[in-house]
Amino acid sequence: MDAITLLKNDHAEVRTLLGDLEATTSRAVKKRSELVVKIDALLKAHTTIEEEIFYPAFKAAGEKGDDDKMYFEALEEHRAAGELVLPDLLATDVGSEQFSGRAKVLKELIEHHAGEEEKEMFPRAKKLLSREDLNSLGEQLEARKQELLA
Ligand SMILES: [Fe+2]
Ligand SMILES: [Fe+2]
Repeated sequence: MDAITLLKNDHAEVRTLLGDLEATTSRAVKKRSELVVKIDALLKAHTTIEEEIFYPAFKAAGEKGDDDKMYFEALEEHRAAGELVLPDLLATDVGSEQFSGRAKVLKELIEHHAGEEEKEMFPRAKKLLSREDLNSLGEQLEARKQELLA
């Protein structure tokens, strides 16, 4: 599978999980806990493979200016999600009033970020990288993802 398809599939899976989470109420304690664990694992694996493999390849192939900007903005969004919003959500009682609001903030952040990747970074990556590059990156992403999720 090529890199872009793999990353887009991850986005679709995370969007579904975040949608399911948003649809729960504070009484669905077990369901919420299960979803949060899944979202945490998938988001961490996804952002890690992007940061270790895909983003560096994008940055290396890209040009100074807009491509660099896109790269640094994406990294900051990972940092906001991974170091602030997600840890906050994980530390929040699933039966509490705060939980829904924090889950919503994470969902909005991820939707914004994944949307920008799909509309800006990935189309640009398709121009900068060859089909062979994208296929070989896809293999590396998949292997590392399996390792992280194991
Ligand atoms: Fe990302
Ligand atoms: Fe992504």
